[in-house]
Amino acid sequence: MEQQFISELPANIVFSAGSVKSKSPSNIALIKYWGKRENQIPTNASISYTLTNSYTETELKFEPKSGNDFDVKVFLDKNLQTNFAPKIIQFFERIEAYMPFLRRFRFEVHTHNSFPHSSGIASSASGMSAMANCLIKMEKLLGSSLNEEQAHRKASFLARLGSGSACRSTYKGLVVWGENKALPNSSNLYAIKYPNQQIHSVFIHFHDTILLIHEGEKSVSSTVGHQLMDRHPYAEKRFIEANKNLEKLLPILKNGDVFAFGKMVEHEALTLHAMMMTSDPAFMLMKPQTVAAIDSIWAYRKKTGNPLFFTLDAGANIHLLYPDDIAKEVHEFIKNELKQFCEKGNYIHDQVNF
Ligand code: PMV
Repeated sequence: MEQQFISELPANIVFSAGSVKSKSPSNIALIKYWGKRENQIPTNASISYTLTNSYTETELKFEPKSGNDFDVKVFLDKNLQTNFAPKIIQFFERIEAYMPFLRRFRFEVHTHNSFPHSSGIASSASGMSAMANCLIKMEKLLGSSLNEEQAHRKASFLARLGSGSACRSTYKGLVVWGENKALPNSSNLYAIKYPNQQIHSVFIHFHDTILLIHEGEKSVSSTVGHQLMDRHPYAEKRFIEANKNLEKLLPILKNGDVFAFGKMVEHEALTLHAMMMTSDPAFMLMKPQTVAAIDSIWAYRKKTGNPLFFTLDAGANIHLLYPDDIAKEVHEFIKNELKQFCEKGNYIHDQVNF
């Protein structure tokens, strides 16, 4: 299966210097990926919304070189980041079999995130997706004959090897990664776009406001969190449930039942964090303000009947999910109530990207 992604270009390709650019959005999972096998194979299928305002822009500059080492410099907002290069080199090692010419070039990666680096929003999904897109563009410049669909699929395949959830950021809309029997084209190797015709219009115009509850580094990285699922007492049950939850969500996406959607999405978020709390060693990424904000969201929903829901990624921040017709009211609620739970009163209004 992976064979289809091996470049037809020779390792010793001769080419002059060049540069390619890509912009890639972040994504937020509705059904969560938590747990993986070797080579970034997910232990269950997941589905996410691709966002609009939270993105990474990357320029990849390359020039021919001699020698057999990887040579990469990474600049974030024009500043050289020596601690980023090992991550990119590790990525290159993982994808070398599919891009055999990488050692022939010296690389400069110039990258910028639309969200502040310290915001606690993970840049790995948008960052690795932008990087994978750049490499596909480079491969095209070097003469690859991939058609658009093949190139897109390979970009998602490569992004997955950079950071699992990044493979979903290579497509817009709702995106599925991981094999699930309800979706015969789904794959563990790359993401696929969930067809827009299967989605009720209410979900095409959804908002996501990110409450920046805690800025800065997480106490436990996603890499460690995934590993702790390997010997987690509830892991197998969780993987089965996640796939079932995805199957249950698909008809909801079609019929537009926002309350059934919200119930499922909140259940997934809390299950993800319950898995963290029941890992050995246990860890908790929610902060007291995360819990206080959830209480406040639930009270608001009870009082107003408005379909305002939350989800969480692997961190303390809250993603508020809500349909377009209540956006004005929700923005007032955020300003008047939820803002107090944000570390510096900061939040980011985003929208799903179709
Ligand atoms: O792609 P990673 O290794 O950063 O893991 C992401 C895991 C979650 O964000 C918690 C869930 C998901 O499906 O995106």
